[in-house]
Amino acid sequence: MAQILDGKKLREKLLADLKQKIDGFQIKPTLVVILVGENPASKIYVNNKKKTAEELGINSQVINYPANISEKELLSKIEELNNDKNVTAILVQLPLPEHISKENVINAIAPAKDVDGFTPYNFGKLFSGEEPTVYPCTPKGILLLLDEYGIKLEGKHVVVVGRSNIVGRPLSQMLLNRNATVTVCHSRSNLDIIKTADVVISAVGKNIIEGEMLKLGSVVVDVGIFKDENGKTRGDVDFESASQVASYISPVPGGVGPMTITSLMLNTVELFEQNLS
Ligand code: GUN
Repeated sequence: MAQILDGKKLREKLLADLKQKIDGFQIKPTLVVILVGENPASKIYVNNKKKTAEELGINSQVINYPANISEKELLSKIEELNNDKNVTAILVQLPLPEHISKENVINAIAPAKDVDGFTPYNFGKLFSGEEPTVYPCTPKGILLLLDEYGIKLEGKHVVVVGRSNIVGRPLSQMLLNRNATVTVCHSRSNLDIIKTADVVISAVGKNIIEGEMLKLGSVVVDVGIFKDENGKTRGDVDFESASQVASYISPVPGGVGPMTITSLMLNTVELFEQNLS
């Protein structure tokens, strides 16, 4: 039976340490989150971000625009926030409505305030093996969780399922930096390769991984989260069967989710400190 990779527990520990640090700051970091439209999942995520920030003593502001806001108006708000000395971190919640170019919007964020690490500057740094200002939140959270349980990545075959800019792509680079052998799979891949993985990290938002697909003793990280037809919260991995085969497994909920928000808080403080120095 696999050991649980407990993201909730690690979140408590990391955020308690972070709160102590923030308590010592004379001036507090300020995180501004922009939410466009009424996507229900995005609203929940954004509320959680704001609530967690406030509990830690981080100033946080949510700007909620209607779905029909123009790209121009959104870009001019970002410009204003870039120039506002009191704002130390900017996050634009994704996805954005179709009429707005995600690339243009992300590109507009000042790299020094890019708390997601998504700007081309920060992505470029990451993909060329240099240090970005901060690392993208979900991949960073996954590595913190694996580190907490002493799971070594050097020389291991890690299969990442999903190639999104939020998880799969940046994660693959961060794993390479840890000297893992990385395979990135996606919707056109033959998933048989999962059988050869020491570590499987799945981020597709569909129930695609069963226990019988895994190598005995592998480590399984489930990044997917969605509601099934019965309204039950599920991940990409069939927990029942996978936990019989894996040595470690992250649950949904309570695995990667809490780590993403933890990383966002860590990143907010990192940008603030970089800004001071
Ligand atoms: N939507 C889902 N995950 C994320 C994330 O990590 N950052 C942003 N900005 N939007 C998201």
